[in-house]
Amino acid sequence: MDFLRISDVGIAGLRTILDATARIKASPSDVEGLLSGTSIGVFFEKPSTRTRVSCEVAAVHLGAHPVMLRGDEVGLGKREALKDVARVLDRYVDALAFRVFRHEHLEELAKHARGPVINLLSDVGHPCQIVADLATIEEHMALQGCRITYVGDGNNVCNSLLLGGAMSGMHVTVCTPPGYEPDAEEVVAARAIAATTGGSITLMSDAVAGMRDAHVLYTDVWTSMGQEAEAEQRLRDFEGFQIDLAALSSADANALFLHCLPAHRGEEVTDDVMEHPRSMVFDQAENRMHAFSAVLLYASGSLPTW
Ligand code: CP
Ligand code: NVA
Repeated sequence: MDFLRISDVGIAGLRTILDATARIKASPSDVEGLLSGTSIGVFFEKPSTRTRVSCEVAAVHLGAHPVMLRGDEVGLGKREALKDVARVLDRYVDALAFRVFRHEHLEELAKHARGPVINLLSDVGHPCQIVADLATIEEHMALQGCRITYVGDGNNVCNSLLLGGAMSGMHVTVCTPPGYEPDAEEVVAARAIAATTGGSITLMSDAVAGMRDAHVLYTDVWTSMGQEAEAEQRLRDFEGFQIDLAALSSADANALFLHCLPAHRGEEVTDDVMEHPRSMVFDQAENRMHAFSAVLLYASGSLPTW
């Protein structure tokens, strides 16, 4: 099955993936070699450190041969039509994991590929990231009823957090400057899910109010990959949306700080918050690898029952 949005796997599927992530982290040998004899095409149209390395290492651990592909090699939709890329890769590999600029390209690939297609970040979402983030929070507290506040740009990471948080019964507050709200369709979808899980979705522009008493504070860069031309304007527009020590102190006494990374220290987050004992950013980064193993096994129909 495909994993283009975190909601593609449903609430029970996400639970299974999160349990598997924790299990794989605790006992990696449980899944070693489970995908032996298979291969996966891993494609990047944008830069990556965590996703690229964690996917390759996870795939090798599972026994799947990763074929790493760069955007300029494949020329998605330029050198060759997307549907042709999908059908050609399909003949060689068992699964595709793609980082793309346009989410619709993932949808087109998924339409024509027989094996699973996994989203490694698009303009609409970053579902593998949010699996790792939820797994990280769960190492410290229950997701159901957890108050998480995302501060900054209503971007791909924020969209997936809305969906994943709603699916987990969390109270998700998103604080953005006007004009930088998350995707309206993703908000509607997340609210519909939250109505079934006891969670909630709140959008506001008052970051100070939004962070008060939160159990988790989350931020991401103000300028995402591909938006570099807007960087100066964004620096002005996001003034007042930085997570600093005062912000962390205004949250719950045990509040965690999360960031998908890469971070722009001094912009969306201060150095002292990044280095704070309650900053979980490197656990999050590690959990990307365990989460990807769980997602790939789930999407391939090869997740063991423990
Ligand atoms: N968080 C994340 O996806 O990082 P990379 O862009 O380095 O892969
Ligand atoms: N929102 C960021 C996330 C990077 C992991 C971007 O799209 O660049």
